[in-house]
Amino acid sequence: MIIDINNSNLSSYIDKVREINHNSVKYICVITFGCQQNEADSEVIRGIGKEMGYLVTDDPAVSDLIIINTCAIREHAEKKALSVLGNMKKYKTSNPDLIVGIMGCMAEEEHVVSKIKKSFPYVSFTLEPSAIYRLPETLYGVMQSRKREFIYNTENIDIYEGVLPVRKSDFKAWVSIMYGCNNFCTYCIVPYVRGRERSRSSADVIADVERLVRDGYKEITLLGQNVNSYKSDTDFAGLLEKIALVKGDFIVRFMTSHPKDVSDRLIDVMGKYVPKIAPQFHLPLQSGSDRILKAMNRTYTAEKYLATVEKLRSAVPDIAISSDIIVGFPGESEEDFSDTMKMLKTVEFDMAYTFIYSPRKGTKAAQMDCQIPDDIKGRRLRELLELQNNISKEKNIPLINTVQKVLVDGFEEKDGKIICKARTLSNKLVHFEGEKNFVGKFELVKITDVRPHNMIGEKFERN
Ligand code: SAH
Ligand code: SF4
Ligand code: F3S
Repeated sequence: MIIDINNSNLSSYIDKVREINHNSVKYICVITFGCQQNEADSEVIRGIGKEMGYLVTDDPAVSDLIIINTCAIREHAEKKALSVLGNMKKYKTSNPDLIVGIMGCMAEEEHVVSKIKKSFPYVSFTLEPSAIYRLPETLYGVMQSRKREFIYNTENIDIYEGVLPVRKSDFKAWVSIMYGCNNFCTYCIVPYVRGRERSRSSADVIADVERLVRDGYKEITLLGQNVNSYKSDTDFAGLLEKIALVKGDFIVRFMTSHPKDVSDRLIDVMGKYVPKIAPQFHLPLQSGSDRILKAMNRTYTAEKYLATVEKLRSAVPDIAISSDIIVGFPGESEEDFSDTMKMLKTVEFDMAYTFIYSPRKGTKAAQMDCQIPDDIKGRRLRELLELQNNISKEKNIPLINTVQKVLVDGFEEKDGKIICKARTLSNKLVHFEGEKNFVGKFELVKITDVRPHNMIGEKFERN
């Protein structure tokens, strides 16, 4: 069900907390781990915080409410969040009224919640990711009763509309269009912690996009764990076309797509509206071995994946394709791994994020025999990285001497010069000498050199 927060009992809790905060200056600090979905959720959490009367800060030391928005995708992510949580104790000691809350994907894991109950007494509440809009109610409960609250496993599938996020950037925006995942890849925790797929209505998404464009945003990234399985009154291709038809000087990106849901219509829409729909596609392959893909429950073969890549490249000639790869999935033999290496050489990704398989409690793969020893996983990762770095660099060489439209993200001062950091429409990083006021603007840059992780350019002046 779609719920307008302003016409629900949730808004009464916002009022109640605001009433308590009335007459004093209070700060909320949200610390984020994990993926873009979590970044986007944190912007919504800050928006709810603002409505409850908090000022938004990044400094936990001055805060009255600290929320750690956690990620559970790999063990390393969980360890980092717990270590930051450990650091929060000192703030609680110096300010006993401080409220610390755990949100995000770890807050849906039962073993994490029991650990927090037992070992982190200064955490006042945990709140699962599908219930972020229960923050006012939960917080009010904590403030009133001084009792701890642990909200998880509620199987909430509602979608909430009506909160204005507090965005970090004033020219790049995330817009979540769907939540959750139904795919149950055997290694992945996401379906367990984010729940089943649900999509916002296209009218609500378009209203967000129109507002952002009016406010001068230049880049809008549509988000979903499985963005191209969006399904409401239209499918993902239909939604993307509607967005491409919104008037204004902006580009649209989206992530993350599942190879099984790349429809021909989606490819056609991209071809028709490029470069307003940016010529970029993030398409996680995970493995190049059909045997491993099957064990991962990815539902495509290497051959099918290649066919999709070819279709994308013929419809959108300058498209950059990036990927996610996992090494060391249970039972991955040297032959399986070499199939992955071969796929990298065949596809020639512009970029790939590479991960060492990390067993996640409750997933099928964590129970599988033949877990791969760490030293083998490490070696495979190094080999993969080296190969991909070379491919990434090679892929960029033909861009030397071309002129690219870029959106400037930020800058760094170096030897008295302003070095702008920008992204091409295909999402490649370019460094070039420019001016501070280029940030947030589209510029034209001539590429002069390439490195594995970025390109070097100079501002292009039309004669
Ligand atoms: N929904 C997206 C992204 C999910 S998480 C998708 O389907 O592709 C981002 C990436 O983390 C995944 O693509 C996968 O490569 C990696 N990942 C997920 N679970 C993992 C695990 N248990 N160990 C290592 N990497 C993992
Ligand atoms: Fe995880 Fe697979 Fe869903 Fe992506 S599609 S979030 S990898 S289960
Ligand atoms: Fe992490 Fe949850 Fe995203 S597990 S990667 S924050 S969906």
